[in-house]
Amino acid sequence: MTDARGPVRVGVVGCGNVSSRYLANLAGQPAVTVAACADADPTRARALAAAHRVPAVLPVDDLLADPGLDLVLNLTPPRAHAEVSLRALAHGKHVYTEKPLATTMADGRRVLDAARARSLRVGTAPDTFLGVGARTCAELVARGAIGTPTSVAAAMMNPGPERFHPEPEFLYQEGAGPLFDIGPYYLTVLTALMGPVVRVGALGGTARAQREVLTGPRAGSTFRVETLTHINTVLEFAGGALGTLVTSFDVAATRTPHLEIHGTEGTIVAAQANSWGGPVLLKGPGTDFVEVLPGPRGSDGFMGMGLVDMAEAIRTGRPAQATGNRGLHVLEVLTAIADTARAGGGFATIGSTLETAG
Ligand SMILES: NC(=O)c1ccc[n+]([C@@H]2O[C@H](COP(=O)([O-])OP(=O)(O)OC[C@H]3O[C@@H](n4cnc5c(N)ncnc54)[C@H](O)[C@@H]3O)[C@@H](O)[C@H]2O)c1
Repeated sequence: MTDARGPVRVGVVGCGNVSSRYLANLAGQPAVTVAACADADPTRARALAAAHRVPAVLPVDDLLADPGLDLVLNLTPPRAHAEVSLRALAHGKHVYTEKPLATTMADGRRVLDAARARSLRVGTAPDTFLGVGARTCAELVARGAIGTPTSVAAAMMNPGPERFHPEPEFLYQEGAGPLFDIGPYYLTVLTALMGPVVRVGALGGTARAQREVLTGPRAGSTFRVETLTHINTVLEFAGGALGTLVTSFDVAATRTPHLEIHGTEGTIVAAQANSWGGPVLLKGPGTDFVEVLPGPRGSDGFMGMGLVDMAEAIRTGRPAQATGNRGLHVLEVLTAIADTARAGGGFATIGSTLETAG
């Protein structure tokens, strides 16, 4: 059994690309200790354990059933998120999962229902909204630095992750693509700043039916694209503000800002929503743009801070911040955008809020 006053004992499932970043960030965090790791491919689990001194490498089933673990950190690809989270919950483990919470609303609800039934917690990446960049934007909005917020403009456009990911295929399958891969960062930060989304409109397209792996041992091999790769979205927030969000893997180059928040008296230019830091620029009444927060620094936040917050919340009994409810609202917005765009375009209403989702 685990010590209810000691660090939360974490078992990692999924030891691929992003796992070493988590383990480097979690080392030295007193709220958590990574006690075991597992992967469908055991060689990956062994490599991660060797690089980060993880004490135990286990078969996936054994890790999920291990009574010495409190929480499963789910770093599998999106299509496996719900299945791994549900199995972890069935074994009495809290879950913190990489984004998105699941790839369908039905699966997302199943995960939250299972957690509720067992009084367990579910947390969801991204946690960039806890970083100093997004928090600075929230403070500026809250103190009226731009007057009443009226609109947001968000864009994350690039030529695609095959430039840096050695196995990019999963990022072009249903449940991924630019909308599900990048959209969670933007929608999590936007809803943290502007409140829940009540309506979306969307159009989407796919520029190329086949793409090529560009890095790693499989460079040169080609694969089929199974998802939309450019999605233009309009958003309506509960408070009445409007937004645009463009996510794309079809854009060779851009100078469009990643994130702007417009108000009746000014504008905030924020950093990318998939980063934890700055820069943050503010133009208030009668001034030119000034830098409120400089560019990225080491202490601005880190991938995994949502898990650390959740671990502290578990030990003290307080609410966590990167919750499954937040993840389910974002998932509802993502799936509504994707369904609308796939159907040829149109509008869809959103039923959940940040509080009531699930
Ligand atoms: N790579 C990044 O830079 C990055 C950044 C932010 C978030 N993420 C998110 O992190 C997650 C993982 O991404 P990645 O890039 O590390 O993927 P990856 O494909 O490199 O690694 C995933 C690992 O999970 C294992 N796996 C798959 N299904 C499994 C199952 N059912 N049980 C156990 N192991 C299983 C695979 O063998 C693989 O080792 C995704 O949700 C992704 O959206 C990735």
